[in-house]
Amino acid sequence: MPRTRVAVLISGRGSNMTALIEAAKAQDYPAEIAVVISNRPDAAGLALAAAAGIATVALDHTTFGKDREAFERLLQRELDARHIELVCLAGFMRLLTPWFVQRWQARMLNIHPSLLPAFKGLDTHEAALRAGVRIHGATVHFVVPDVDSGPIICQGAVAVHDDDTPRTLAARVLAVEHRLYPVALRFVAEGRVHVEDGRCHIDGVAVSDEALLVPAIANR
Ligand code: GRF
Repeated sequence: MPRTRVAVLISGRGSNMTALIEAAKAQDYPAEIAVVISNRPDAAGLALAAAAGIATVALDHTTFGKDREAFERLLQRELDARHIELVCLAGFMRLLTPWFVQRWQARMLNIHPSLLPAFKGLDTHEAALRAGVRIHGATVHFVVPDVDSGPIICQGAVAVHDDDTPRTLAARVLAVEHRLYPVALRFVAEGRVHVEDGRCHIDGVAVSDEALLVPAIANR
């Protein structure tokens, strides 16, 4: 079976990108990372991708001023030229227009560091601590025109500790992100994810009924 050709879009350090690249090294992984594209030429992730032997493209959005669609037309041209079938946003810090999002409907994934729909937007760990939630986490979802919305493919949860700072909480969530994103991409690339009424159904997945209780409460 030919592997699904994936573009990963980044703006920064690229640790989720690296998790996807690592996962795609496995013989039986159904997707290949065909290109990594950054809207910031100085993104650390670009060098990591190049070192891993992945094609990289820097599309500096600042050269397009306020013309978002001009940037996206060029982005689309890169994706077309490389026969890309799925797009993974991984710390891509640029809002995409409905024009672009609709072109990639159900074919573009994003990872967000919260249990959506809670804590959309930036600084999610600060927001979670401020709200006092006991459980926090990460979400992989399909991208729709509304930011940090769209059908949820996978979520992972972590406990919030009383002495957490945004930094310690972010590290715990990031470890979950790195496990979650490759799995979500696998399911989508295998054609097992179906969206109905805004909800994802995934063929043949195991779901654990084990509860995460915070604080930990002994089983009785
Ligand atoms: C991650 O926390 C991701 O959830 C969010 O941006 C961050 C990107 O980190 N969308 P990295 O570049 O993947 O290390």
